[in-house]
Amino acid sequence: MDAITVLRGGHREVSRLIGLLENPAADSTNRTSSGLLVDQLQHLLKVHSSIEERVFYPTMARFEEATAIVQHSYLEHDAIDSLVADLSRMESTGKAFTAKVQELSRLVSQHISNEERVLLFLAEKQCSRAELEEMGALMEELKQVRSQAATRRRG
Ligand SMILES: [Fe+2]
Ligand SMILES: [Fe+2]
Repeated sequence: MDAITVLRGGHREVSRLIGLLENPAADSTNRTSSGLLVDQLQHLLKVHSSIEERVFYPTMARFEEATAIVQHSYLEHDAIDSLVADLSRMESTGKAFTAKVQELSRLVSQHISNEERVLLFLAEKQCSRAELEEMGALMEELKQVRSQAATRRRG
């Protein structure tokens, strides 16, 4: 799988989970509690951000038109992490939780849109097919290592 496909897939999955948090009725099984969703989201974001920071951003930072947005993206990852950490400590029924979810949703949408409009667009234009495949393979590998480590911690 190439890097673009891996990252777009991650964005879809993150957006889906946030959508479920914003609108719990959309979860047809109705068995996933908000607390569990926050845990899943936290894990997913951790893995997604780390493959971007370790593989994608350093590659993109060599293009002059990407450097500012790459730098800004690291800060956005920190802001997103801290919002999710707040959510994980909150009661999932109150107004404060809903407001925090909305704040997270706005920030994540904006972040994803910047990445897709600028960074993924540039990667598609400037990186070779081989390089995109190579980055994608490395990302998949890191994702697996991360997931296995998380499973071991839980077990
Ligand atoms: Fe990101
Ligand atoms: Fe991303």
